[in-house]
Amino acid sequence: MADQAFVTLATNDNYARGAMVLGKSLRNHNTAKKLVVLVSPQVSTPCQSVLKNIFDEVKVVDVLDSGDTAHLAMMKRPDLGVTFTKLHCWTLTHYSKCVFMDADTLVLSNIDELFEREEMSAAPDPGWPDCFNSGVFVFRPSVETYGKLLQYCTEHGSFDGGDQGVLNGFFNDWATADISKHLPFIYNLSSIAIYTYLPAFKQYGGNAKVVHFLGKTKPWSCTFNCKTREIYGGVQEPATHPSFLLNWWTLYASSVVPMLQEQHGDQPFHSGCVESKHSDSVTCETVQGEGGSSHAQALQPMPTSEERKEQWEQGQADYMGMDSFDNIKRKLDTFLK
Ligand code: UDP
Ligand code: GLC
Ligand code: MN
Repeated sequence: MADQAFVTLATNDNYARGAMVLGKSLRNHNTAKKLVVLVSPQVSTPCQSVLKNIFDEVKVVDVLDSGDTAHLAMMKRPDLGVTFTKLHCWTLTHYSKCVFMDADTLVLSNIDELFEREEMSAAPDPGWPDCFNSGVFVFRPSVETYGKLLQYCTEHGSFDGGDQGVLNGFFNDWATADISKHLPFIYNLSSIAIYTYLPAFKQYGGNAKVVHFLGKTKPWSCTFNCKTREIYGGVQEPATHPSFLLNWWTLYASSVVPMLQEQHGDQPFHSGCVESKHSDSVTCETVQGEGGSSHAQALQPMPTSEERKEQWEQGQADYMGMDSFDNIKRKLDTFLK
């Protein structure tokens, strides 16, 4: 079926690494569909070469940015204005139907059955389930729809400053019109569900077909010890459950890093993999819009306890890292003992 494709987006080398892992995961699960990645000119030549090895089509597009700092600040994600670039996917009119997937998603089994669904099929957003999450959705490329979406952006903007606000505004009957357009949550299982509904995650998480590393901390912002297979700075997942983050790093370290090494040749590059024990005084980077792939940048000093207290008071606990459920539980257990 050459007229159907999975599509993703990367505007910098960090998200490009996510796209590489996503592409590999789709191939490993024998997708019969084409793979397309939209990239901005900022993605480096070695990264574009690796993407060309994995994807059928690498399309360079202009960055569209909402520039809507006020709404983005509400989400605490100033970096997401560029997600407007996602709208370019409607211009891929040499395909009749596509499935868009964020570069921070990972496929765990074949999901070609998604192409039986219609535009706009998507899974509920865990934060507001009457909105769909725009990390995985089925759409039909169309110049007409693309034009209408841009017009919508000009007239109404986005309530979250990113593409998800626009798309929910535009496809505004999603919540009520047609239940077949509600994808089961297992097609877009966000890592946030671990915190919001742990028992359900423990019960159903094993059925996941797509995991979405939604939120500020991405798999590539962590560090991986390829000897001990420890991950530093990531989401603490329940010990009883196979680790999605470890799946990501295993695929990245085994299949993507060798390709990146080949493309970089003698040029130094930082894969995020380390071999020796990680120092306790470093923690994981949080992704910035313009993030390069430098591991040196990735290692930030730990905040002092005063700084952490301030962050808590401002509602900015590091739920995915130091203030994760497992860490808090461990601390409480030591007090109780
Ligand atoms: N994206 C990108 N560059 C950026 C930010 C986002 O290419 O600087 C793309 C990428 O495909 C990413 C998607 O837009 O997966 C949505 O952003 P993100 O996944 O960070 O949002 P979240 O799912 O965490 O809300
Ligand atoms: C969301 C979605 C992401 C989207 C962002 C901005 O949380 O997961 O795909 O880009 O919001 O609208
Ligand atoms: Mn995402």
